[in-house]
Amino acid sequence: MNEMSMTASRSLLRLLTCGSVDDGKSTLIGRLLFDTDNIPDDQRAALERDSRKYGTDGANIDYALLVDGLEAEREQGITIDVAYRFMATRRRKFIIADTPGHEQYTRNMATGASTAQLAILLVDASQGLLTQTRRHAFIADLLGIRHVVLAVNKIDLIGFDQARFDAIAEEFRALAARFHFETITPIPLSARHGDNVVHRSARMPWHDGPTLLEHLETIEPGGTGAGPFRFPVQWVNRPDADFRGYAGTLAGGEVKPGDEVVVAASGQLTRIARIVTADGDRPAARAGDAVTLTLADEVDLSRGDVLASPGARPDVADQFAADLVWMAEAPLFAGRPYIVKLGTATVSGVVSRIKHKVNVNNFDELAADSLTLNEVGSVNVALATPVAFDPYTLNPRTGAFILIDRMTNATVAAGMIRHPLRRASNIHRQALTIDRAAREALNGHRPAILWFTGLSGSGKSTIANALETKLHLLGAHTYLLDGDNVRHGLNRDLGFTDTDRVENIRRVAEVAKLFADAGMIVLVSFISPFRAERNMARELVEPGLFHEVFVDTPIEVCRQRDPKGLYRKADAGEIRNFTGIDSPYEPPEAPEFHLRTTTADPDALAEALLAALRPQLGLGL
Ligand code: ADX
Repeated sequence: MNEMSMTASRSLLRLLTCGSVDDGKSTLIGRLLFDTDNIPDDQRAALERDSRKYGTDGANIDYALLVDGLEAEREQGITIDVAYRFMATRRRKFIIADTPGHEQYTRNMATGASTAQLAILLVDASQGLLTQTRRHAFIADLLGIRHVVLAVNKIDLIGFDQARFDAIAEEFRALAARFHFETITPIPLSARHGDNVVHRSARMPWHDGPTLLEHLETIEPGGTGAGPFRFPVQWVNRPDADFRGYAGTLAGGEVKPGDEVVVAASGQLTRIARIVTADGDRPAARAGDAVTLTLADEVDLSRGDVLASPGARPDVADQFAADLVWMAEAPLFAGRPYIVKLGTATVSGVVSRIKHKVNVNNFDELAADSLTLNEVGSVNVALATPVAFDPYTLNPRTGAFILIDRMTNATVAAGMIRHPLRRASNIHRQALTIDRAAREALNGHRPAILWFTGLSGSGKSTIANALETKLHLLGAHTYLLDGDNVRHGLNRDLGFTDTDRVENIRRVAEVAKLFADAGMIVLVSFISPFRAERNMARELVEPGLFHEVFVDTPIEVCRQRDPKGLYRKADAGEIRNFTGIDSPYEPPEAPEFHLRTTTADPDALAEALLAALRPQLGLGL
């Protein structure tokens, strides 16, 4: 059943539960489902049977079995980290996102919370607030959840003590003061015995607030669907010359035929002509509706563009500040390119700067040059082309993005945009009169980037040097960028951690691009151990310009040659992070040239390279 087909009269509340098994989370969800008659009869009977057999509560029903049963099913699947449960009462429908509390907490919460309007933070009354409560509150806030219920469970274990409940509630309010919650609703309850979950407890007459269900049924979360009109274009539907429609899902506001709208990126104005669906035209559409829009004028609009209300335009920029939740085993490095998916737009981008990371347990801000699994950081992101977006707090649908690894296609991060970076709109490209074609004509040959990669001591620099000499004798304009040399100047501030190597290559790739643009044949001789950065260097320039030269020498041979005595030092433990020893080298998968130095001497290899490259470089005889 999708949301559209649900009865319009009963609203939908999406909620997230945060807590661990020990807090009684499964019992609470089980109790909610059971006491609201959301468990089919046959499952009830099975539950009563299982409770007697496996239950942890004597002859009583163990409500956790309901949920844990579902959990076991779920564990067979490999990728689903969040379980969604559906519940309906006379007044409302609910989607409950349940995230395993223990491992991968940040990632799972980030996945489950992206659409949640309310979070239930569970605490064990006998334990009080724990580190994980702080963490859950932090992430709920980060993800834009504005309503929290502090479910103080196992209240029976502290003898329904009002003073202790009040103290826990007070402590939570104090720690949450830094966050942006609009409502904080502490509820004393016992999931096991059913007190104040669905039925009001006679054992806590002092509690004058709602039961959990009353609160969930009556809270008005606001937010979703409010705000100005936003329509990220999913695809252009053009079955014939007469019809051109733009398909997508409204990410904010409302729209009807005749409304004036603007293409966010270009500023072009037009009007909505029709709102088309499979069931015919509609008089209006609102946030969450999947429709096809047709426009009164012909405009330039394609996938990834956003149609918006002219009175409240989204930001359009190629740089923004964001909070990032890192979800991958491999760490984030500033400067490494990822695929950025923002709404329906897919562009290449980098995290240009990690401003700090946050210890989610105590909210400390720490300096960082990388983020690892489950870490949260405040970063700047730079995109290859400008896109339209809103700050996440204004619209989570147009303000959230993910980062995708270019090699594995895995989602590695979830991000929340805070604001555009104005520098983005104030730096323009200067148009230049002398272009590359002009320089090429003067030089009499084409430019190229010859990128030598391989282990230290593999022979990169020797071969590159021999090749440059040969090119020079042919009258070619060349320059050799060598790791050891560049590290004495431009990259003097960089060492050999993974982070520094990523930055090392990013800079030299940009420099190589400039040299190529200047019309030169530039030879780059860097270990450049990571595929991601070598690919980035390749993509900086037009196809055909970049040639990857893999100088493939086994490490034993490099170690034997040891021209700089570095292997000896690394083996003795005097140098750390040495490539091939305690730092990785990722060999190229499809280099243009694959040189084996154990069977040919450097000069012969340089000669062979020259012969292969000469026609492409346009170097005459
Ligand atoms: S890269 O990995 O960032 O591409 P780069 O090519 O600039 O490395 O520098 C490698 C050179 O630095 C090596 O040829 C070697 O002379 C020197 N060097 C010093 N320490 C290390 C190290 N830990 N790992 C690799 N090379 C090192």
